[in-house]
Amino acid sequence: MTTAMNQTRKSVVLRTRPTGEPRAEDFDVVEEPMPRTGHGEVLTRTIFLSLDPYMRGRLIDRKSYVPPIKLGEVMEGGTVGEVLASADPGFSPGELVLGARGWQTHCLAPAKLLVKLDKHGPRASAYLGVLGMPGTTAYSGLKDIGRVKAGETVVISAASGPVGSVAGQLAKRAGARVVGIAGGAEKCLWVQEALGFDDCVDHRTMDLPGDLAAACPSGIDVYFENVGGAVQAAVFAQLNVFARVIMCGMVAEYNEPRPRPGPNLMFVVGKRVHIEGLIVSDKPERFAEWRALAAPWVADGSLKFRETVIDGLENAADGLAQLLRGGNFGKMLVRVGPDP
Ligand SMILES: NC(=O)c1ccc[n+]([C@@H]2O[C@H](COP(=O)([O-])OP(=O)(O)OC[C@H]3O[C@@H](n4cnc5c(N)ncnc54)[C@H](OP(=O)(O)O)[C@@H]3O)[C@@H](O)[C@H]2O)c1
Repeated sequence: MTTAMNQTRKSVVLRTRPTGEPRAEDFDVVEEPMPRTGHGEVLTRTIFLSLDPYMRGRLIDRKSYVPPIKLGEVMEGGTVGEVLASADPGFSPGELVLGARGWQTHCLAPAKLLVKLDKHGPRASAYLGVLGMPGTTAYSGLKDIGRVKAGETVVISAASGPVGSVAGQLAKRAGARVVGIAGGAEKCLWVQEALGFDDCVDHRTMDLPGDLAAACPSGIDVYFENVGGAVQAAVFAQLNVFARVIMCGMVAEYNEPRPRPGPNLMFVVGKRVHIEGLIVSDKPERFAEWRALAAPWVADGSLKFRETVIDGLENAADGLAQLLRGGNFGKMLVRVGPDP
């Protein structure tokens, strides 16, 4: 009989630092004997791997809020997996867990980093998107920085993604007029019709500033920044006095070798704009808080989300490249293994 212990595991490691878009050739897939659990460790079989824009930043050798991946090191990434073996009394084989981190078919992780999931609760993949890190980012950004009031106009870029789609739905619940920005008619339609945003502007149109002004006749009170580039320039020019900007990410620029020159910030003085950076892990308590708040909304269907799932760990690098150019529609995931 074949057991986990006499199988091998596959891992994706960084071979070369990509210039521009990441390519499959920038990574190696390595196979090695299955690791064994040491004291306090849990071995999981990966079911879903999350692909996220931050991963592009980890491929660049520069100082940041988290050190870069080293050459030869396993790529980092959140997973949902099934416990195969546990050397910790808190976990047993067959349980579903969130948190083991790596582009790997099997992850060995300290038990204290894992969160046990309810097998009979929401579908496992939801814990990497709507109920996971991206959903928590949206929640924390609006709660801690946006402080949206009823009647205000809130603009959300990358509106169909897992951060943007949750942020917009939360701003609607707060009574705001919510305008999304997304790439293409299909995404814009979904953002309006399924998510219930009041409007959605296609950033690929000829006149983004004009379309945005038409969608925001009273100006913009809160901007949830996910994109940067031309989208940021169009929004910044239409911010109201005392606007708040949640600086969450600037994905349009992640494949570029160096940061673009910044905008002139004199408008921040004149309009007393509050611009604040967000790193979701700075407030770890928000993760469990968000899961508890949002799980019933996912269960009753009132919090909508979508996923793009690609098959096979060996396709993860292609998936990351697709994500950075908008080839995903909703949360980008890799299916690494079957459901339990
Ligand atoms: N600070 C934190 O703690 C934190 C945590 C999580 C995520 N984030 C950030 O939040 C943002 C959204 O993350 P996500 O996971 O929800 O990603 P996502 O929206 O699923 O994917 C990124 C999206 O960005 C859009 N995009 C790419 N290039 C663009 C361009 N040139 N102009 C306009 N839009 C472009 C694409 O959507 P379209 O097809 O609509 O253009 C693409 O689907 C990212 O910037 C990410 O780094 C930050």
